[in-house]
Amino acid sequence: MAQLKLQGLRRTYANGVTAVDGIDLTVNEGEFMVLVGPSGCGKSTTLRMIAGLEDMSAGRMLIGGVDVTDVPPAERGVAMVFQSYALYPHMTVAENMGFALKIAGRSKRDIAAAVRRAAESLQLEPLLDRKPRALSGGQRQRVAIGRAIVREPKVFLFDEPLSNLDASLRTQMRLEMARLHERLGATIVYVTHDQVEAMTLGDRIAVFNAGRIEQVGTPQEVYGRPVNRFVAGFLGSPQMNFLPAVGELDPAGPILRVPGAGRLALPIACATPLASVHALGVRPEHWLMTPGEGADGLHASVERVEWLGDVTLVHCRLSGRDAANGDAGTISVKTVWPGSDALPRGMPVRLQVRPRDLMLFDAQGRALAA
Ligand SMILES: Nc1ncnc2c1ncn2[C@@H]1O[C@H](COP(=O)(O)OP(=O)(O)OP(=O)(O)O)[C@@H](O)[C@H]1O
Ligand SMILES: [Mg+2]
Repeated sequence: MAQLKLQGLRRTYANGVTAVDGIDLTVNEGEFMVLVGPSGCGKSTTLRMIAGLEDMSAGRMLIGGVDVTDVPPAERGVAMVFQSYALYPHMTVAENMGFALKIAGRSKRDIAAAVRRAAESLQLEPLLDRKPRALSGGQRQRVAIGRAIVREPKVFLFDEPLSNLDASLRTQMRLEMARLHERLGATIVYVTHDQVEAMTLGDRIAVFNAGRIEQVGTPQEVYGRPVNRFVAGFLGSPQMNFLPAVGELDPAGPILRVPGAGRLALPIACATPLASVHALGVRPEHWLMTPGEGADGLHASVERVEWLGDVTLVHCRLSGRDAANGDAGTISVKTVWPGSDALPRGMPVRLQVRPRDLMLFDAQGRALAA
């Protein structure tokens, strides 16, 4: 296992599209790094460049401190697992897993031993003689991972490996991925669209946007202390609620006014100059909702209720803000509200937030210290 270092990585395609626009990223030895970001932001292109399947337009790449920028793919010590498992249909599981070693000219005994070890750790032993078509999706995925393991790479690359699986199999495979990482102590770069995979598997998460990295940090950091509106809005479901806000100094302390809808208290020792506040952000689970009217908080009415079993999502319309204002007119509240208790449409509610759960953003969308 080894450290992976990307420096100024860039990829511009012949059609002029710059898919990756100068990326610096260090993945520590044994670290599980998750890449997330909207479709088309350059995640797969980055993985393919690391694997050597895609030319770099600029930048440098080091594995274990050695510059591998010009080293051919097969000699980089990198193995990639694709979303489409890309198994050879005419070969058995064992042959699929051992193929790379056979090509490398390793002895039959070596290959058999490596395949047996990998099959053991992935619980594939009973399936070694089957062809891929006789396997379930999850089993095929395990074979694809096994094929990567037998090569004993320094770095594993995974491009949305679980996205073809149904929800329950995904959960099961997610736990297997975590176990595998623990057992192999492998350096892993893992692309996913699944927030739960990102939050649970990643030692750190890199949030991509339009070919650049917006933030790299532990799941707690990127979720709890996003550096800007993009990161704040990308992680979390439903999305963080953003509202236009004006910072003001009240006799009782600093407050945020949401035009037409009410006001929220800021921490007394608010570290940010109030004039630079442009918008506020609140995660759906952080709203404190009480029925009825009142002086404090934001005034809203219930618009739609989604009872999900464990939690209830209440979509509220803020007073004084209409649909013409777009998203700033409605907010979602995630609450534990007994499913049997009625929340009739149009019912007035009051929304408050603990000051420490408020996020503040400036006009450029940068996070401010609250
Ligand atoms: N061979 C190519 N030629 C030209 N443009 C390409 C090529 N491959 C990818 N692109 C473009 O590069 C950008 C990044 O693509 P990439 O596949 O890296 O995105 P991604 O983050 O993996 O997206 P997704 O989440 O949808 O898989 C996209 O705008 C894509 O259209
Ligand atoms: Mg992709």
